[in-house]
Amino acid sequence: MDDIKRIVDEVTQKIRSANIEILENIKSEYLGKNGVVTKILKSLSHYSVEDRKKVGFEANRVKSVIESGIKERKEVLKKASLAEKMRKEKVDCSSIFYFPFSKGSFHPVLQTIQDMSLVFKSLGFSIAEGPEIETDWYNFKALNIPENHPVKNVTDTFYLNDMRNLLRTHTSPGQVHVMEKQKPPVKVIIPGRVYRNESSDASHSSTFHQIEGLRVDKDVTFLDLKAVLTKFIHSFFCRGLNLRFRPSYFQFTEPSAEVDIQCLFCKGRGCSLCKNSGWIEMLGCGMVHPNVLKAVNYDSEIYTGYAFGIGVERVAMFKYKIDDIRLFYENDLRFLKQF
Ligand code: DAH
Repeated sequence: MDDIKRIVDEVTQKIRSANIEILENIKSEYLGKNGVVTKILKSLSHYSVEDRKKVGFEANRVKSVIESGIKERKEVLKKASLAEKMRKEKVDCSSIFYFPFSKGSFHPVLQTIQDMSLVFKSLGFSIAEGPEIETDWYNFKALNIPENHPVKNVTDTFYLNDMRNLLRTHTSPGQVHVMEKQKPPVKVIIPGRVYRNESSDASHSSTFHQIEGLRVDKDVTFLDLKAVLTKFIHSFFCRGLNLRFRPSYFQFTEPSAEVDIQCLFCKGRGCSLCKNSGWIEMLGCGMVHPNVLKAVNYDSEIYTGYAFGIGVERVAMFKYKIDDIRLFYENDLRFLKQF
């Protein structure tokens, strides 16, 4: 009985400071096949009936004391290791606010593309993209632009060295890519960067951005085009803004129009921004020419469509009252930080 008492003291002492590995060792040292307590229990037959009861009872008590001691210690160790893990992996959210640099922001041109796209998305358009390097077929021929058109000259268009590929001069070739891949109905916008061989000034740049729009289905009319562009302009700029559709000419649309909006700054009275006309030219549009539909094997007897092309920088300049397009490309942080 003295031995048993000594064992209890000894083992509780050991358990108190043990780690997981040592706990396993303790378990086998006392309760394993040849463990100290197991041996006592095995030797019970050597005792008198009277002693056997006492020793057996005590040995079993020690056994459960050891078992519950190990269990409790394991719990303690588990909690401590979790707490340690939490301490190590803790993220100090407050430290983010001490980050010494200001957060970046999207370039105003990209912001304008995103804002415009959001309005078109709400009108049911999906978004597609086309390549910036194009062939004659996509940029001109499939769009009904004749072989001898001056826009194809190297003085207007950037050709790659092989002269077979070129940098797209507008996003309209995106229409052809979409229609080649997809059967009608089609309702997409195609935002992207375009290139033209021209010298830059306050309102021209050799690279700028456009958003192309295309809808093809049965029974699409000019009225649908007017409705969708009016809705876009009113949602994007302001409700009730005056706009006008002016007859125009593009090879890939017939009839064609350009849309002007009333100058927001002088309310149409005339100012430097609208060159005293009271109107600002916003976009080109029209009904997709049957030859364009034929080029992509759409049946022009069944399907009609409208298309439009909007200059993103123009829209951004008007929206943010910027009077020089070159500001977008100079990467002057004093300019960019304002957006
Ligand atoms: N591609 C024309 C340009 O760059 C813009 C344009 C006009 C696009 C009429 C169209 C359209 O889709 O229908 O000047």
